Amino acid sequence: MRAAAEPVAPDAPAPDTRRLRAALGRFTTGVTIVTCTDAAGEPVGLTVNSFSSLSLEPPLVLWSLRRESPSAAAFSAARHFAVNVLAESQVGVSRSFAARRADRFAEGEWSAGLHGLPVLAGAAAVFECESVSAQVAGDHLLFIGRVLACSDSAVPPLLFQAGHYRTIGHPL
Ligand SMILES: Cc1cc2nc3c(=O)[nH]c(=O)nc-3n(C[C@H](O)[C@H](O)[C@H](O)COP(=O)(O)O)c2cc1C
Repeated sequence: MRAAAEPVAPDAPAPDTRRLRAALGRFTTGVTIVTCTDAAGEPVGLTVNSFSSLSLEPPLVLWSLRRESPSAAAFSAARHFAVNVLAESQVGVSRSFAARRADRFAEGEWSAGLHGLPVLAGAAAVFECESVSAQVAGDHLLFIGRVLACSDSAVPPLLFQAGHYRTIGHPL
């Protein structure tokens, strides 16, 4: 098995970053706010679309965080994190948690979930997780969590594609 930080093909020319971003951006995702509490018990969170399901048995999810993020120390130390999947109506929350501002939690209605994790009212889904692995993967940290509790609601989800927030269309 390959080590996580090892490049897949060290001799192949890497695609230009702009082209890679553009190609990755074609992949449509939902939008989440991933949260934890820091050593002082203060809430920490940011907007994340790298969230993905990983395993049903055991129930595992993953997401990645830029290594240079000011939030990296808190998430690396945290034993738990929550993934709040945003509803279409929560685009303002996404913008706040992607901006460099201290009062991110002023936007949205937050309460304390399992282990004091910040949980967002009105989210399309919430996953409260035990952080089981954090590893360096290139310029990001890859977090894997075991889902301890989850909930969902049939509200329309917020989508992100090609650098734009979007709403969901009709089933085909
Ligand atoms: C739709 C969207 C998705 C994002 N996904 C991620 C992500 O998966 N990982 C990440 O590190 N940053 C992601 N970001 C960027 C962070 O939200 C942004 O850089 C934020 O300021 C990081 O918080 P920090 O200042 O605490 O590091 C995303 C931003 C947006 C708008």
